[in-house]
Amino acid sequence: RMPILEQCYNLMDFESVARQVMKKTAWAYYSSGADDEITMRENHTAFHKIWFRPRILVDVEKVDFSTTMLGTKTDMPFYVTATALGKLGHHEGEVLLTKAAKKHNVIQMIPTLASCSFDEIMDAAEGDQVQWMQLYVNKDRSITKKIVEHAEKRGCKGLFITVDAPQLGRREKDMRSKFTDVGSNVQSGSTTDNSQGAARAISSFIDPALSWKDIPWFQSITKMPIILKGVQRVEDVIRAVETGVQGVVLSNHGGRQLDFARSGVEVLAEVMPVLRERGWEDRIEIYIDGGVRRATDIIKALCLGAKGVGIGRPFLYAMSSYGLPGVDRAMQLLKDEMEMNMRLIGCSSVEQLNPTLIDTRGLNMH
Ligand code: FNR
Repeated sequence: RMPILEQCYNLMDFESVARQVMKKTAWAYYSSGADDEITMRENHTAFHKIWFRPRILVDVEKVDFSTTMLGTKTDMPFYVTATALGKLGHHEGEVLLTKAAKKHNVIQMIPTLASCSFDEIMDAAEGDQVQWMQLYVNKDRSITKKIVEHAEKRGCKGLFITVDAPQLGRREKDMRSKFTDVGSNVQSGSTTDNSQGAARAISSFIDPALSWKDIPWFQSITKMPIILKGVQRVEDVIRAVETGVQGVVLSNHGGRQLDFARSGVEVLAEVMPVLRERGWEDRIEIYIDGGVRRATDIIKALCLGAKGVGIGRPFLYAMSSYGLPGVDRAMQLLKDEMEMNMRLIGCSSVEQLNPTLIDTRGLNMH
C-alpha cells in the first residue's frame, strides 16, 4: 500500500514510493543512470566521505539560509535543476515544479526538453520569481539562437549550456522500456526514434561538434549570464574563467552520461583550492549537482565553496507520487533539515560556512 505523504520523512522516501507507484516507462527514464550506474550511486555516497567539525557556543537562535545566485536573491541554497519530460511523471509536468519553487522562493532551471512549452513554464511563474534556462545546443544554430533570444526576452536570469552530452549516455533500464507516448510533445524541433528508450528518442538534434570556440558566439547573442553545466575537471574550470563565463556546474548529469565520472562534490574539493590559490574565487560562481539528498549534503558543498546546489530526481519522484503537495513537502523537509543542521554545526547564515567546518580527509586528496 502507498504510504501517506506525511510518512515521507526525507527525500529518499519519495524515491521508494515512486518506484512502487510510477508507470514503468517513466520510472525507467527518471531513475536510470549510464552503464553500470556506478557514478549515479557514487554521487550520493561521495558526500559520506566528508565529516563535520562543528563550532560550539555560537548564537544560532535565528538561522538564515537565504543566499544569492547569479546576482538574484533566493531563500534556499538549492535550485530545481533541469530534468527533461516532466509529464512522464505527472500530467502537469514542469509547471507543477514552477508552483512549488514559487512557494518556497527557490530558483527553477527550465529544460530545453521540457514537456510543457517554454512559455507555459514562464507564464506559470509569478511576480519576480527567478527562472533559468538549460540549453541543449542544436546543430542548426538558428534554432538555438531563437531559443536563447526568446529566453532572454521572457526574463530568464541565466543560460546553462549543457556540455556533458555530446552524445547521450547508454541508459539500459530506459532502453529496455518501450517508449511511445511522450516524445511528440517536446520542443526540440526534430523527428524522434522511439526504439532506444526515451532519452535517445528526443536527443538526436544535439550538436556533438559543440566546442570552446562556440562560447564567444553565445556571449555575443545574449546578455544573460552563461554557465557551463557538466564540467568535470579543474583544467576546464580554469578555461571557463579565462573564457569569461559567469559560472560552471560541476556535474555528471546525475550519472546518466559517462559512467565512472567523479561526483560533483569530489571535483569541487579539487577545484576550490586551485581557484583560491589564483585569487579567482570571485571571478566565477561554482555550482554542483548530483546525489544531493540531505541538507547536510548542501551544507558540505557550501563549506567547500559552492554557491549553490542543484537537485533533480527527488523532486521528480515527489511530483510523480504525490503531485504538488509532494514537492512542497520535499522542499519543506529540506528547509527543516537545513535549519537544524546549520544550528548543529554552529552557523546562523550561509556566509559563515567555510572549509574549516568540514573534514575532507576521507576524499583521498593528494
Ligand atoms: C536530467 N538531467 C538533465 N540535464 C540537462 O542538462 N538536460 C536535461 O534535459 C536533463 N534531463 C534529465 C532528466 C532526468 C530524468 C534526470 C534525472 C536528469 C541532469 C540533471 O540536470 C542533473 O544534472 C541531475 O539530475 C542531478 O542529479 P540528481 O539530483 O538527479 O541525483
